Amino acid sequence: MSIVTKPITLHLNGKTVGPVPVPEGIMMVDFLHEYLNLTGSRLGCGQGVCHACVVILDKPDGSSEEVRSCITGAHYFEGKKVRTVEGVGQQNEKGELVGMSPIQQKFLEHFSFQCGYCTPGFVNGATVLLERLKREPVARADVERTISSALEGHICRCTGYVRYFEAVKEVVLGTPGLVKEGA
Ligand code: FES
Ligand code: FES
Repeated sequence: MSIVTKPITLHLNGKTVGPVPVPEGIMMVDFLHEYLNLTGSRLGCGQGVCHACVVILDKPDGSSEEVRSCITGAHYFEGKKVRTVEGVGQQNEKGELVGMSPIQQKFLEHFSFQCGYCTPGFVNGATVLLERLKREPVARADVERTISSALEGHICRCTGYVRYFEAVKEVVLGTPGLVKEGA
């Protein structure tokens, strides 16, 4: 029996990738790992529950969203813009990675993770949250609830979540424009 392949082309971490012929029905996480050697997106449950595997989909309207790469086929991303944890750090004007993002930096400072298996998912989830707050700032009174609800799908078996939460809160409160003035 031969495997049926279908080419895929997408915009990944700022660069065009493809066309790459991959098996029809291959999941995005397997495409990233096996074809592109991008292993930062973690395969945890493999069933859409833990969110360790999320990648960021950049939509044409300028918004971004998390997509679980373990239950989403690679071809869903055909022609789309995607970021993985390998592509969310600070970049220079040439698009080269030059350092950690504010979220990555704060996770490090707070010792937010232990084994780190869930961390790429938390990084991407928090990144999407910050990008949403840039477009839609929240009142100060709603910051804690907003963070909890944005990250509640992410499962960590090690840390108890408090340090992740505190790190994200520090970035949200310390970044101008994410919290409504005087609200
Ligand atoms: S590995 Fe994708 S949600 Fe758990
Ligand atoms: S740090 Fe180990 S699962 Fe979260």
